[in-house]
Formats: sequence, structure tokens, C-alpha cells
Amino acid sequence: MREKQLTLRQFLLLDHRQHALEKDLIFLLEDIATSCRIISNHVRSGAFVGNLGSAGSTNIQGETQKQMDVLANEEFVRHCSNCGRVAALVSEEVDEVYWLKSNPEPGDYLVYFDPLDGSSNLELNLSVGSIFSVVRIAHAIDASDDRSVLRAGHEQVCAGYSVYGPSTSLVVTTGNGVNCFTHQQGTGEFRLTHPDMRIPEETSEFAINASRYKLWDAPIQRYFDECIAGRDGPREKTFNMRWVASMVAEVHRILTRGGVFLYPCDDGNRTDGGKLRLMYEANPMGMIIEQAGGAASTGTERIMDVTPTSHHQRVAVILGSKSEVALLEKYHAEA
Ligand code: AHG
Ligand code: MN
Ligand code: MN
Ligand code: MN
Repeated sequence: MREKQLTLRQFLLLDHRQHALEKDLIFLLEDIATSCRIISNHVRSGAFVGNLGSAGSTNIQGETQKQMDVLANEEFVRHCSNCGRVAALVSEEVDEVYWLKSNPEPGDYLVYFDPLDGSSNLELNLSVGSIFSVVRIAHAIDASDDRSVLRAGHEQVCAGYSVYGPSTSLVVTTGNGVNCFTHQQGTGEFRLTHPDMRIPEETSEFAINASRYKLWDAPIQRYFDECIAGRDGPREKTFNMRWVASMVAEVHRILTRGGVFLYPCDDGNRTDGGKLRLMYEANPMGMIIEQAGGAASTGTERIMDVTPTSHHQRVAVILGSKSEVALLEKYHAEA
């Protein structure tokens, strides 16, 4: 018999008592959990309904939207609008900032989300997920100016993601470590199954889209070459490689057994500054990884210290086990 697996609500109320987690943030997190539960259900029934394919539209990123990208976005918007403290929503799938309040006050929240991450994997029945981030504003902000949502990652008070894999996981940090809840069929509850997740400092596993090798800068090529050189190379050990093409799945693997994930800025995405989006992919994952004892960097700077200049901004991402991220930063500094 396992020790008592707290429900998400029980856990958040404990967080409220022990670390003064705001009640409004609890309500918001429960709304986000509801969105994830419903999106998970949409994903699992997609093949019956026939909505796993293209929506025939294009988002601000220039990507063809899947019907499920649009549906997942609608669920996030619907549920996050419940909490009276949310001032604005920023989504991968919506060009403009969606303002819910015309006069945001101190203590209100800004919510950033990637409603469906890894959506190219939908038709393949591989893991996809959702990523979210919450910033609490300390001062009143101007809702007529979309630049008001440009907040560095270190302002996040909460971040998380859900993976829709063989089971549905919800991984959350409110700044006091990282906890993973699993959706329990039958009760419909998210229950704490993986408390206080910690990333092993050392690893011999990396994740990168190696088909882009020729496009990479020298520090990334150097790191990769040394990893695949095996026991006879400078790392003197054998590395394993994984690439799911769903950031949620890669981060979940790293939280579970260590490793490093790279999506660098390369010759194919340099004009955009990288592939992954700073505010709703890199920052939330950066907070989770740091809270689990890992590191998240662009190669030259801590991800959560990057000053955003636009809300769909892209960035180079290197995250995971601390020693590997430090080595990659060293190779960037030496280049
Ligand atoms: P999204 O589906 O939200 O647009 O994000 C996809 C991202 C990320 O999840 C993944 O790590 C990366 O794109 C995969 O890129 P490649 O197709 O270049 O491998
Ligand atoms: Mn996309
Ligand atoms: Mn994504
Ligand atoms: Mn997405």
C-alpha cells in the first residue's frame, strides 16, 4: 500500500499553509488542471471524432495549426477566464495578447501557455502536452499596451506542464520544488505520485534534433561530437540519445532520469532567434528544471534572465542536468 497520495487540492492547500501560496493562485491552478484534463480527453478521443489533423489555418509562428491546437487553446481560454485575478492571457496560438481586465491591479496574474506542445506528434499517437506559466504583477499595468506582458522568467510565481502520454501527468512548481500528479481514471483526480522530483546532476543522455548538425554553431557541434565519441573520446563514456520532438516529453524524461535537452539557435532559425518560444515554452520549463536542481541556459545566459522584447519571441534552449549545461556554457564562452 503506497503512502497517501494527496489530491492536487490537498497538496495546494498544504502549500498555502506552509508557504503562503495565494488562494487565488490555487483557484487558477485548479482551472489550469481542468483545462489539461479536458484537453487530454480531446486528444484520447481525437481518432473517433476525426480532429487530429490540420485546421487549415496558420498561427503567428507560421505553423499550420492542428484542429487540436485550436481546441486546446479554447479550453485554456475558457477555464483561465474563471479566475477573477487573471489580467491577460498569452498563447502560442493567438497573435495578440488577450486582455481580460482593462485596469489590471497589483496582485493580478498574467498567464502564458502553449496549449498543445508537440502537436506534430498527434497523428502518430506519441506524447503531446500543454505548458503554462504564471506571473503575478506587483504594480498596476497598462492593458492598452501589449508590451506590459513582457516579463522575464524570474518573475514567474508558478509554472508547469501536462503530458498526455500513456497516463496524463501534471507537473507543477510554485517555487518550492517540483511535484508530479497523475490523473486517476475513475476518480477524475490528479494525485501526487512523484513528490519532489530532482534531476540527477550527472548524466550520459542527451536530446537534440541531430538532423540539423550542419546548421549548428561550433560549441554545439563540439559537445555533440564529444558525446558520440564514446569511451575513447574526451568524455570517456558512452552517451545515449533520444528525440521525441515533444518538449514536454523530453523534459519529463529529464526530470525522471536526468539528461540534457538542446534546441539551439542555428543557421536554419537564426533570423527568429531559435525555434522554441521564450515566454510559454522556455521560461516555464526553465523554472521547473531549476526548481528540480537542474539548469536552463541559452548557452550564454540563464533563460529566466532573458529580457523579452516580444511575446512570441524565440530563444535558444539548453536545459537539464547542471554539469552538462555548465559544460555547454563553457564551450560557448571558449568559442
Ligand atoms: P509546438 O508543437 O508547440 O509548436 O512545439 C514543438 C516544438 C517542441 O515541442 C519540440 O521540441 C520541437 O518543436 C521539435 O522540433 P523539430 O520538429 O525541429 O524536431
Ligand atoms: Mn506550434
Ligand atoms: Mn510547443
Ligand atoms: Mn504548441
